[in-house]
Amino acid sequence: MEVFRIRGGSPLRGKVRASGSKNATLPAFAAALLTPEPCVIENVPDLSDVRFMAEILQHLGAEVEDLGSGSWKITAGDLSSQAPYELVRKMRASICLLGPLIGRLRQARVALPGGCVIGQRPIDLHLKALTNLGCAVEVDAGDILVDAKGLHGADLFLGGRHGSTVTGTANALMATVLAPGVTHLESAACEPEIADLCRMLVAMGARIENTGGHRLTIHGVKSLGGCHHRIIADRIEVGTYCIASAITGGDVSVVGADASHLGAFLDKMEQSGLCFDQQNGSLRTFIDPSGLRPIELTTLPYPGYPTDLQAQACALACIGPGPSILTERVYPNRFMHAPELSRMGAEIAIEGSSAIVKGNARLSGAPVMASDLRASAALILAALAAEGDTWVQRIYHLDRGYEVFDKKLRSLGAEIERLPADALPETIQSNPSELGST
Ligand code: EPZ
Repeated sequence: MEVFRIRGGSPLRGKVRASGSKNATLPAFAAALLTPEPCVIENVPDLSDVRFMAEILQHLGAEVEDLGSGSWKITAGDLSSQAPYELVRKMRASICLLGPLIGRLRQARVALPGGCVIGQRPIDLHLKALTNLGCAVEVDAGDILVDAKGLHGADLFLGGRHGSTVTGTANALMATVLAPGVTHLESAACEPEIADLCRMLVAMGARIENTGGHRLTIHGVKSLGGCHHRIIADRIEVGTYCIASAITGGDVSVVGADASHLGAFLDKMEQSGLCFDQQNGSLRTFIDPSGLRPIELTTLPYPGYPTDLQAQACALACIGPGPSILTERVYPNRFMHAPELSRMGAEIAIEGSSAIVKGNARLSGAPVMASDLRASAALILAALAAEGDTWVQRIYHLDRGYEVFDKKLRSLGAEIERLPADALPETIQSNPSELGST
């Protein structure tokens, strides 16, 4: 186990390169199961979630080769249709294996993913879609069993009470590209990661209309071939570095950022006093000379403000003028970062699915516990702005979704070290934070 020690107070300055998107890579790896021919996927981030998905594909029988420099080659010859619990439980995104196993093998047995700290994480919309596509779906001993001998195109509605489902849309796409007939997906997720998956599937020979829209049409084909696919930049990582620049009063450019994928994030952050400068493929962030302003945002499916950047904005709201109001419409309880930020001196009241942040806090370093990926990133951002040292435990949460986070932050002037857990001061080892004590 490792920990981060962060000494706050240095404004971040300089350039970092955006990594490939975790949330585009995971469905792309799954999509490679749809063909026995090799798929070469480039700009893949070096993350534990990616290595884990590679391990699951190998377990299913695919040949998976890390070619180095972010390129992977996946050749899915003979495949098993069973993804067991001991593998699936560690990463809920493995649910997006359902679609390609059904599309390619017409059957699947995938363990039900657990919930997680950000919410219940239901998959009712996934299973409803598969049933409407002619699959026989049942749950047995914690596994989802699907018999898809009767698979056929259909009209599907993918909206739920919190909007469309991203991995549900990925599953519907990958289940229908090889299904007989035509499928219309209504209220499909239109996150850039889904558009990227569509581009890969089309490169493999799929017939998909209206890529990037809420209404997708898929004409099933008999078979798919291999492809060369380059993963888009990680918009959530880019947004995290934009906020890192602002929270430290710095001036950071993210190279390789695609600002068109940042939807309402840029707009909302500009309203809150951030200035952006987009020049030849890089996105520069600094604070408006008149200073930060209160943040008022509501998370929504794309192109609304992304839920995966809510915790990071909450950290920024702690030091800016208040009150700020951040409302979650995607994961109403996604505020695990609030109690940890309060340990650093923030004043945050949670009312229903909103966080009311008083603002103007002088944050001070404290021992904190990482929980979910984005809440952990928020704690790091707060630590960069805090006075004194912050020790962050369970940093494996961060390594799931941020490629060499500490190294990139150090290159911008942050005082952050990755240390073995036994480097923790004695007092901290004896008093883990409340989150870690359960
Ligand atoms: C994807 O998760 C992302 N993960 C999440 O990023 C992201 O927060 C989320 O989309 C929303 O943008 C990956 O792409 C691997 P959903 P996903 O299905 O697909 C409800 C990160 O930090 N819902 O779009 O699992 C659900 O409860 C991760 O990188 C149902 O009700 O999310 C939620 O409220 C965290 N029934 C909303 O829809 C369903 O069957 C959106 O969920 C499915 C979802």
